[in-house]
Amino acid sequence: MRKKLILLYITTEILTIIDGVQYPWTFDNDLFGGPDFWGLLHGDWRMCTAGQMQSPVNIDPSQLLYDPHLMPINIEGNIVEAVFENTGQLPVVTVKDLPNKPTINITGGPTMPYRYNLHQISVHFGRADEGEKGSEHTVDRVRFPAEIQLLAYNSALYPNFSVAMTSPRGLLAVSVIVDIGKTTAVELRRLTVASQSITYKARLPGQSTNLTDFQPSALLPKTSHYVTYEGSLTYPGCHETVTWVILNNPIYITNDDLQIWNELQKTETKQPEPSYMTPAYRPLKSLNGRLLRTNINVGSKESAASSSCPSNIYVEMGYRANPGRNKRNDSVSRRYVRQSEVFEIDNIRPDEISKIGSY
Ligand SMILES: *[C@@H]1O[C@H](CO)[C@@H](O)[C@H](O)[C@H]1NC(C)=O
Ligand SMILES: *[C@@H]1O[C@H](CO)[C@@H](O)[C@H](O)[C@H]1NC(C)=O
Ligand SMILES: *[C@@H]1O[C@H](CO)[C@@H](O)[C@H](O)[C@H]1NC(C)=O
Ligand SMILES: *[C@@H]1O[C@H](CO)[C@@H](O)[C@H](O)[C@H]1NC(C)=O
Repeated sequence: MRKKLILLYITTEILTIIDGVQYPWTFDNDLFGGPDFWGLLHGDWRMCTAGQMQSPVNIDPSQLLYDPHLMPINIEGNIVEAVFENTGQLPVVTVKDLPNKPTINITGGPTMPYRYNLHQISVHFGRADEGEKGSEHTVDRVRFPAEIQLLAYNSALYPNFSVAMTSPRGLLAVSVIVDIGKTTAVELRRLTVASQSITYKARLPGQSTNLTDFQPSALLPKTSHYVTYEGSLTYPGCHETVTWVILNNPIYITNDDLQIWNELQKTETKQPEPSYMTPAYRPLKSLNGRLLRTNINVGSKESAASSSCPSNIYVEMGYRANPGRNKRNDSVSRRYVRQSEVFEIDNIRPDEISKIGSY
């Protein structure tokens, strides 16, 4: 009887480890646990390797398809209470769902007529002091310094984020590209300062920072233009339940403020050799024929004859309006080009992906 109990105990223990969402996955491809291995770490994470509609992707301006039915997206400007935590992989803000406090509804946009509820905000970045950029999505193969992602769940269909995450039409991700500027956007500055109190990974719930009077909508650039496609979460389990909305203009951060994010570490305590969180972005995934729809009407300012010329799309892309950017050479000259970004992403064949999976 006693033996049986012990056995049961051990089994539970092992199951906990296997089932452990605690497994130290990382964005660092040089380590076991890096993006190429995510699909092997946990049974529920198979999509990370097997999925064919994964995120992030490169936004190729010449492939955008104008869709006049795409409505502007409405993100409520409410002030919420939130928790800011270092998960060991990413800095993540989670909006508190409190009985007497407002939450943030997101309506309109490509996911109309569903209503979504903002649940979390994550920040992706690279090692700025080494010139590494860390946006997850690239535009015309250009990677930007950082990317802020607002993740919302379909509250018309599902009770909460965790249920929606694995369900059809479950999530909406609004992506804000962050570029270097002379001043830092006010709400991003607040987050930057707050990040200094979550330098180490939270060991227990509560080892996080409360953000009171946080206004997520203040992180958005002033534009109603976006690109949308169907994709996945960019961290395990990579569920393909996410409608992505990439806003067409960046917000700005100063170089000094960007460096502050580099202080974040993966470990729970100070180590003799610091273990920095960067890189904090997933490598690009193949588009595999998915549509990149946009409400940027490139034809509206042109005559009917010239509106079919795709090169005009560049004129309207907000990201291009950054003087001094050496567009073509930017990504190539990065000091840290990842192996997975060297091939043309549209040429990745499924058998190559499964090769990685069976490693
Ligand atoms: C969000 O939408 C729901 C359903 O329409 C509504 O009950 C709620 O009041 C809205 N929240 C806010 C903060 O407006
Ligand atoms: C989400 O909702 C499901 C179903 O109602 C429930 O079982 C689960 O505990 C909820 N999860 C969280 C994190 O609240
Ligand atoms: C954050 O707020 C919660 C209540 O929502 C409280 O229990 C907790 O102690 C606060 N944490 C800090 C660090 O102030
Ligand atoms: C890219 O860099 C090379 C040299 O490194 C230069 O010759 C070329 O003109 C650059 N291309 C653009 C588009 O700036």
